[in-house]
Amino acid sequence: MAESTAGGYPPEQRDAIYKVIAERRDVRRGFRPDPVPADVLGRVLAAAHQAPSVGFSQPWDFIVITDRARRERIAALARRRRDEFAADLPGARARAFDQLKIESILDTPVNIVVSCDRTRGGRHTLGRATQPRTADFSSVLAVANLWLAARAEGLGVGWVSFFAERELAAELGLPAHLEVIAYLCVGYVTEFAPEPELQTAGWARRRPVAWAVHAEEFGRRGMPGEEPVDPLADLLAAIAPADADAMTAARERQDRMTKPRGSLGALEDVSARLAGLAGSCPPPLPEPACVAVFAADHGVHAQGVSPWPQEVTAQMVANFLAGGAVVNAFAAQAGAEVTVVDVGVAADLEPVPGLLPRKIGRGTADFTAGPAMTRDQAVAAVVTGAEIARDLVAAGNRCLVTGDMGIANTTASAALICAFTGADPAGATGRGTGIDALTYAKKIEVVCRGLARHQPDPADPLAVLAAFGGFEHAALAGFILGAAALRVPVILDGVIAGAAALAAVALAPDAIAACFAGHRSAEPGHAVTLSHLGLRPLVDLGLRLGEGTGALLALPLVQSAARALRDVATFDSAGVADKL
Ligand SMILES: Cc1cc2nc3c(=O)[nH]c(=O)nc-3n(C[C@H](O)[C@H](O)[C@H](O)COP(=O)(O)O)c2cc1C
Repeated sequence: MAESTAGGYPPEQRDAIYKVIAERRDVRRGFRPDPVPADVLGRVLAAAHQAPSVGFSQPWDFIVITDRARRERIAALARRRRDEFAADLPGARARAFDQLKIESILDTPVNIVVSCDRTRGGRHTLGRATQPRTADFSSVLAVANLWLAARAEGLGVGWVSFFAERELAAELGLPAHLEVIAYLCVGYVTEFAPEPELQTAGWARRRPVAWAVHAEEFGRRGMPGEEPVDPLADLLAAIAPADADAMTAARERQDRMTKPRGSLGALEDVSARLAGLAGSCPPPLPEPACVAVFAADHGVHAQGVSPWPQEVTAQMVANFLAGGAVVNAFAAQAGAEVTVVDVGVAADLEPVPGLLPRKIGRGTADFTAGPAMTRDQAVAAVVTGAEIARDLVAAGNRCLVTGDMGIANTTASAALICAFTGADPAGATGRGTGIDALTYAKKIEVVCRGLARHQPDPADPLAVLAAFGGFEHAALAGFILGAAALRVPVILDGVIAGAAALAAVALAPDAIAACFAGHRSAEPGHAVTLSHLGLRPLVDLGLRLGEGTGALLALPLVQSAARALRDVATFDSAGVADKL
């Protein structure tokens, strides 16, 4: 015991180290104008200079800026980029961003630029030859040392990254071979916030440390000394029913609001369900919202169930990412963000911003010939969907919206719906994108053949998903379960999301508390699904597009229901006489 702690610091010094790590903050508000004495600044810079570096190359330089005129020019550069970023944000995010302070270039007495020279030390610098990025990492470690030392000195540091790097480099007279790594605003502060400002503002949350720790290989999450986490079991265990007290409080409040009782119709129920999910009345507003479009291909396409070639899945993914699809238009209108998830597109997709690469396989197998996927793949897809829900909520979203894309996925949906509800394939199979009578008859026959082959047992939802599902169905089931576990509402789109919700609810019945049916699709299987789930659709416009479009139309309805419960006065508070 003594041996293993030899060289360790005495407890109070060790505590001081953990304290400075925990209490370091990115500071943007509350700077005091008093100058930073040269000796203090010198100590902080010397701490930065002691950072580890690849091959001991010490690639950093520190440019200390105090000149007001120069800082004004630099602040103007940052403001321009900030405005460009803001112009690109969806509605609710743009409103939240407006409240955020993202730089203190002029509020602080001193700014420090940390740069990186990737050539310092010549070509034989140990380690950097194989991993050139380690030069940058080393400069970042100098930033970390500076940030911690500054905290111990009572100095706040705010990192500003709203720059076009070369624009800033030119202003600083940086040689071409040097790169700006960090722009830091430094000064004494009135206080240090207890948690990241972006968390206080509801922009993003800290991920629990257990999510970030993996045992032996990626995906086996768990803290040292604890059993590895079984992500699916954990997910299911985290799902609980709606809070009955909060629902009652919401119903009572609806009755006392300055309007005739029940006059908000189905929205009163939506607001009570939101309260039940959140466990509070009124519930938090379900914004910002994000639609996740899960895309995948289907082996059953080979049976000729769709007039569209399979390549359209990948082409539409490109369209979503370019902002050219209906989902983009509706999301822009509703102020929601669009994220596209490749859970199983048959083609290789280029990495672009907004695309989450989470391929479980290159399309499923033909379910008329065997299971569409393995049970392990079904589990992996469910867990992937749940992790996406979790990441989107950690990124600050308070409402999730399902989207989907996959040529032939209405066929897989019909099979799933029949398997989970016992519906007759003739009544649950639809015309999807629009097919002629002959193809429609074949589609029903394909669903029948699949059901006959697999004899699905709805009590084993993973087996049903594996038999028929697309990867997007399994991932959407996980997405819904993830929302339920985090007690965040999820607005379901049409028949594909409905089929996924059947799987989710079969895995965890209480997940229904998080589900809001965005609309009723024209696909006949969807009505069967909604009545099986006991969900009332909010919009019924004969849509049959998918992508998340119907759910996005319902987003303002769900948000309005929450806002009414929160904002509308009650008879007693407004002094309005109630009905006798
Ligand atoms: C590489 C990097 C760049 C950052 N850029 C900015 C920025 O441009 N504007 C800003 O307000 N905060 C910026 N931050 C600060 C982060 O928002 C902040 O570190 C994060 O919210 C966590 O809060 P904490 O540092 O107080 O723990 C940056 C942080 C890092 C590490």
